[in-house]
Amino acid sequence: MKIAVIQGPNLNMLGVREQQIYGPMKLEQIHAQMKEFATQNGMEIEFFQSNLEGEIVDRIQECYGEADGIIINAAAYTHTSIAIRDAIAAVNVPTVEVHISNIHRRETFRQTNMIAPVCASSIVGFGPFGYHLAMIGMTQILNEVKAAKEMQAQQQTEAQA
Ligand code: DQA
Repeated sequence: MKIAVIQGPNLNMLGVREQQIYGPMKLEQIHAQMKEFATQNGMEIEFFQSNLEGEIVDRIQECYGEADGIIINAAAYTHTSIAIRDAIAAVNVPTVEVHISNIHRRETFRQTNMIAPVCASSIVGFGPFGYHLAMIGMTQILNEVKAAKEMQAQQQTEAQA
């Protein structure tokens, strides 16, 4: 199983930016914890961060036929980007979105979420621990996808018999 982690604008500044909202943890530390979880659970994981909308769209498109799951924090683009939403819908790879802060409790412009409707799930407000929850949630989603495929294959075999 291969997981693509995609981080949007300003998340490279974690540990520096608005620590009262996002805490002291750096992105590299979050990724190290995710890598540890992936290794322990026999998953491959790749990390990507960009401040540019088009680069994020390109990275999502690369996941088509390549990644089994996407974990994305589209950061500020969450609230504005139809392009990122359309890319997630296009590749049809199970996607979990993460927000470190609870966007529902913040400014009204953060109440608009372009991404959530095309994601399997949204995890908000748990701080960096949300990425760990996303890994657990993704494991469950991928197990369900696998079970559904196996059942479909079995039904086809039975139908042919
Ligand atoms: C964020 C929330 C967004 O509103 C904000 O623009 C970010 C980070 C979060 O993780 O809480 O950059 O996605």
